[in-house]
Amino acid sequence: MIGVKSLEKRNKCLHYPVMWKEALSGLGIAKCKYVVDCTAGLGGHAYKMLEACQELFYLGIDRDGQSLRQAGDKLKPFEGRFTLVQENFRNIDSVSRQVREDKADAVFFDLGVSSYQLADPQRGFSFLKNGSLDMRFDENDFVKAFDLVNNLSQRELVEIFKKFGQERYSRRIARRLVEERKDSPISTTLQLAGIIEKSVPPKSRFGRIHPATRVFQALRIAVNRELDSLEAALPEAIALLKKGARIAVISFHSLEDRIVKHTFRDFASKNILSVITKKPLVPDQAEITLNRPSRPAKLRIAEKIS
Ligand SMILES: C[S@@+](CC[C@H](N)C(=O)[O-])C[C@H]1O[C@@H](n2cnc3c(N)ncnc32)[C@H](O)[C@@H]1O
Repeated sequence: MIGVKSLEKRNKCLHYPVMWKEALSGLGIAKCKYVVDCTAGLGGHAYKMLEACQELFYLGIDRDGQSLRQAGDKLKPFEGRFTLVQENFRNIDSVSRQVREDKADAVFFDLGVSSYQLADPQRGFSFLKNGSLDMRFDENDFVKAFDLVNNLSQRELVEIFKKFGQERYSRRIARRLVEERKDSPISTTLQLAGIIEKSVPPKSRFGRIHPATRVFQALRIAVNRELDSLEAALPEAIALLKKGARIAVISFHSLEDRIVKHTFRDFASKNILSVITKKPLVPDQAEITLNRPSRPAKLRIAEKIS
């Protein structure tokens, strides 16, 4: 019999689309003709959607060209029923217009970083593997984490760590980074993680999460301007929905979830949306056991009413 530990280990290597059953049923995918997935990633949710509904046409957007190539391979059985476009989802309206004239029956976001991006040390997203300080979703973008870490002022670094990472030791970490980079640039993920570890008090070095978690999250959000993109995309996504169509967003940290919650609330107060999930849905214990990274996921769904 396979134990829970080895099951977890095995599933880390597989790609498991987070809360896919809840997302598909919340969007009413079985009855949709046209869905726009703003975060196609490796095509995990895409596969489930195309499999669930023979009538469905799927438009998948992602900033990451490498992920889209993988998604294209995965979706081969559905050839002719999908299009993948490398773009920032903030341009959802123009991308959708280029692909279809009609409005969407469903729009979906599964935010953040994928297991595939985390697993590749060269992408620089993980503080557990050595790689260059990159963290760009889109390899055509200009600014890397390296540029922020080595060029921003101490004050600017503090602001990023506080705002996007809610890091309580922002000042200590930024001070130490600025000190260390005087000799030579900080160029690798493990070098950065080591400096962070040395900056925080000993009790925080062995806590529930790795001491570099929040700073890496903050840098990733800053490099990719993730919150700006989400704020810009949500109103466009809502405008793209047909009357009666639904939008579903899975977020992985409170900053994203707050933007989704407030945008839905704002559009509900104008009688444009009806919020279906008064409280966000979260993964059940069985999903968390199969796929631990799903733990912080929050799914919010709303329906266009006018
Ligand atoms: C959690 S993964 C999505 C996984 C996907 N649902 C699947 O099942 O394979 C999040 C994806 O969002 C993409 N992404 C993040 N911000 C984006 C943006 N502003 N525009 C387009 N894609 C973005 C990332 O490149 C990443 O591939």
